[in-house]
Amino acid sequence: TPVAAVIPAAGRGVRLGPGAPKALRALSGTPMLIHAVRALAASRHVSLVVVVAPPDGAAEVKSLLDAHALPGGTPSGSWGRTDFLVVPGGESRQESVRLGLDALPPQYGVVLVHDAARPLVPVETVDAVVEAVRDGAPAVVPALPLADTVKEVEPAAAAGDPEPVVATPERARLRAVQTPQGFDRAALVRAHETVTENVTDDASMVEQLGLTVVAVPGHEEAFKVTRPLDLVLAEAVLARRRL
Ligand code: CTP
Ligand code: MG
Repeated sequence: TPVAAVIPAAGRGVRLGPGAPKALRALSGTPMLIHAVRALAASRHVSLVVVVAPPDGAAEVKSLLDAHALPGGTPSGSWGRTDFLVVPGGESRQESVRLGLDALPPQYGVVLVHDAARPLVPVETVDAVVEAVRDGAPAVVPALPLADTVKEVEPAAAAGDPEPVVATPERARLRAVQTPQGFDRAALVRAHETVTENVTDDASMVEQLGLTVVAVPGHEEAFKVTRPLDLVLAEAVLARRRL
């Protein structure tokens, strides 16, 4: 069954600070979104990429993708063997992903959801997720062990106030999850129709349906560009790749 990737790229990037929408900020001279699309299109499994653009930026994103398409007669809307579509996004990441799913043609039975804000994910991670879905898991997340110990706290009313610690989950059993997350399309669509509360990743919606979610090894370079220091790290990773 053909595999499509939905790339939510409609966020503002508030934590990165003022400027263009995060997905359109440059990394080594190229917009973060273009790095992310290339990373997914690098997988021989992925034949369609749906980019969910900032609500007022769909036309700009479409021309950006066309401008970065492979030269040599590549038709508009495709990068070599990978086609792309652009749709406008929504208020929340969840809504943006749903708008991307709504645009998927019927033949795609497997869907990857990948943050534009994870521009440097290696193709090996993409392929490992696709293979685990094809092996029968309804939902797959790339995940890494944590370096820091994690505490659950009672959040303070005012920022900066001390927060009582409530619990300390055993670190060895915790994982930090990344994207692309991979899904049986029907399971993900049903999750988006059923779950109404706000969540921070797609797999947790499928968990709420009672379906099995499995974790496969993630990759350090699939980190999310969230705060200014992450831009420093991303530039350093790209410089190391050019060596
Ligand atoms: N996203 C989206 N639509 C939204 C919000 C987020 O498509 N309404 C996307 C972002 O563009 C990003 C991914 O979801 O690729 C992960 O979100 P995050 O890292 O939180 O990005 P932003 O929401 O843009 O950043 P911030 O939360 O700092 O504003
Ligand atoms: Mg956000």
